[in-house]
Amino acid sequence: ASDPKRPSVVWLHFQECTGCSESLLRASHPDIATLILDLISLDYHETLSAAAGKQAEENLENAIEKGNYVLVVEGGIPLKDGGVYCKIGGKTAVDILRRAAEKAVAIIAIGTCGAYGGVQAAKPNPTGAVGVSDIIKDKPVINVPGCPPKPHNFLSTVLYFLTFKKLPPTDKFGRPLFAYGRKVHDHCERRPHFDEGRYAEQFGDLGHRMGFCLYKVGCKGPETYSNCPVIRFNDVEVWPVSVGNGCYGCTEPNFWDTMTPFHKR
Ligand code: SF4
Ligand code: SF4
Ligand code: F3S
Repeated sequence: ASDPKRPSVVWLHFQECTGCSESLLRASHPDIATLILDLISLDYHETLSAAAGKQAEENLENAIEKGNYVLVVEGGIPLKDGGVYCKIGGKTAVDILRRAAEKAVAIIAIGTCGAYGGVQAAKPNPTGAVGVSDIIKDKPVINVPGCPPKPHNFLSTVLYFLTFKKLPPTDKFGRPLFAYGRKVHDHCERRPHFDEGRYAEQFGDLGHRMGFCLYKVGCKGPETYSNCPVIRFNDVEVWPVSVGNGCYGCTEPNFWDTMTPFHKR
């Protein structure tokens, strides 16, 4: 935090499962230790914080006071009934977000929760959950959706901002084009099977075991914008389709309503 060359990052958690943080913790090249120690100064992150309770609240206040940080938001923000459905230290998520956004230089909504409200926003959205950009209108907000997103898409967004002092160009859903500019279907390794009409007709059949296209068992790759087949997840190098499961469309707004049923057979 004391090194002026390392930008400060404040990371808030609201309605979420912490899967985005967990996924990032498993990143490599750069791994999270390098990211924290060499590139950024993670001044506040509840999952990684040694402090708890009052001390953690004070750390957040101090980080906000200093200002000039990149704000990362993981989780949806409930607005119904005055925002009472997510409170931390007696404050509503929406109040904490507004306060932390005031002095942020840029805001990254990580995961489909932070970007678009998340699974908790599924119909009938009982808590009125929304994404960050539905609330914060006077600051640049970039969305890095996915449930969870690939850590490298988040890290690349941070590094882009550090290098160019601005956020990368985005599509109409606020997603960086370098990561979400093409469809999953465009680069899928099963695409030759799709083109030749070779499909898994149901899970476990011969076509499934042969690695044929998963479209007929529910894959949403043709409607989903993300670089999953190219970047894959961390050093294990897998992604949903490579392990025999269709894409759920997890980078798309409202995928929990628009992409279901996820499995067709
Ligand atoms: Fe969890 Fe998915 Fe929300 Fe990330 S986007 S916090 S992985 S539910
Ligand atoms: Fe497209 Fe999905 Fe088939 Fe891959 S598995 S070719 S993404 S429909
Ligand atoms: Fe999500 Fe589909 Fe990629 S489910 S992780 S966008 S392959």
